[in-house]
Amino acid sequence: MSKIDYLYDWFQSYVRAYYTDDRFVMDRVLLKEEHSKRVAASSASLAEHLELDTRQKILAEVIGLFHDISRFRQVTEYRTFVDAESFDHGDAGAKEFAKSGILHEFTAAELAMIGFAIINHNKMVIPPACPQTELFAKIIRDADKLDIFRILPPIQADHDYSPKLISQLKPGGVLSYTDVKTLADKRLIRLSWFYDIYFDWTLEKLVEEGHLERQLAALPDTEDCVVIKDTMKAYIAKRLSL
Ligand SMILES: [Fe+2]
Repeated sequence: MSKIDYLYDWFQSYVRAYYTDDRFVMDRVLLKEEHSKRVAASSASLAEHLELDTRQKILAEVIGLFHDISRFRQVTEYRTFVDAESFDHGDAGAKEFAKSGILHEFTAAELAMIGFAIINHNKMVIPPACPQTELFAKIIRDADKLDIFRILPPIQADHDYSPKLISQLKPGGVLSYTDVKTLADKRLIRLSWFYDIYFDWTLEKLVEEGHLERQLAALPDTEDCVVIKDTMKAYIAKRLSL
């Protein structure tokens, strides 16, 4: 039995309490349950790759497992994963974790880092923090995006993009969800996530698994979009020394 098996047991019984006959909710509970476990595994792999010590590897894995802990209550009470229509699931997740029965397993410093990572896994940027605290926030953001790219269905929409987002993405950069006006805009948001990947380990996986190519292919070959695609390809090539 691994050192953190009991944390998985706790997580499992927490999630099981949200199991329901309501198909809509149940499908989404299972989706987030599986997502959380895969993100925990990716966080652990990334921590291993970064040669973190045993305790740090455990923290990275725990954050991965619990980062979306408030999603279960969110979909049960609000029937949505849209934060703007319910609550900020990063902030709520940290509060949920702070109420959990596993707190005594961590030091005050570790709890602060876990809380910070959960709160900031879904924010535009990571606010200033000490390097160690920042590290765990970066790991969860990368591991989360890796899994999201693996499971996202393609966006079914025409090519009706907001000029503001097009002009922000042309020079390269992360976009804000609040500027999304059309369904098609979500393609631009997804593509911009590649500018928000911290570790080359993650970027390499995204490229190897074809996620970059898939997101690029979803954009048309208009003048603006060709600029966006070329800027992105040049950025990736530079990061990965291709
Ligand atoms: Fe999340």
